[in-house]
Amino acid sequence: MVDTTTPADVAGPRRHALIVGASRGLGLAIAEAYLARGVHVVGTVRPGPRTKLHPLREQWPDQLEIETVDITSVDQVAALRSRLQGKTFDLLLVNAGIKNDDRETIADVSPRTLFV
Ligand SMILES: NC(=O)c1ccc[n+]([C@@H]2O[C@H](COP(=O)([O-])OP(=O)(O)OC[C@H]3O[C@@H](n4cnc5c(N)ncnc54)[C@H](OP(=O)(O)O)[C@@H]3O)[C@@H](O)[C@H]2O)c1
Repeated sequence: MVDTTTPADVAGPRRHALIVGASRGLGLAIAEAYLARGVHVVGTVRPGPRTKLHPLREQWPDQLEIETVDITSVDQVAALRSRLQGKTFDLLLVNAGIKNDDRETIADVSPRTLFV
């Protein structure tokens, strides 16, 4: 990964990012890039086994919090919202996919899937 750290990034007040779907893919890559820039990251994974995000917590224990949520579960989303109550974020990235596989485009996703 390219090191994009600059003095301006690490100087001022710490920034906070919430990345939903940070276990792999773009969410993981963006989480790692922000951590390297000194940003405090809350990254979510689905409940289950250890993911590729977990080793980053060993690398950045003071900067990375790992939360769990499955965004198709109303109860889990509500519980996450409750746990994050009082925190503020400079960036929200919802990377959790809504397509079912690479053959679908967004136009193929049913309203029921989109608005579950
Ligand atoms: N990669 C690209 O070049 C690209 C380009 C254009 C658009 N996109 C779109 O951008 C989105 C993310 O891409 P990506 O490559 O990062 O996809 P990805 O590798 O499939 O990662 C998706 C992330 O979302 C999480 N996720 C999926 N369903 C979830 C759910 N129900 N609740 C919570 N988390 C869930 C996954 O967690 P798990 O590990 O638990 O599955 C994973 O962390 C996708 O919608 C993709 O179609 C990607």
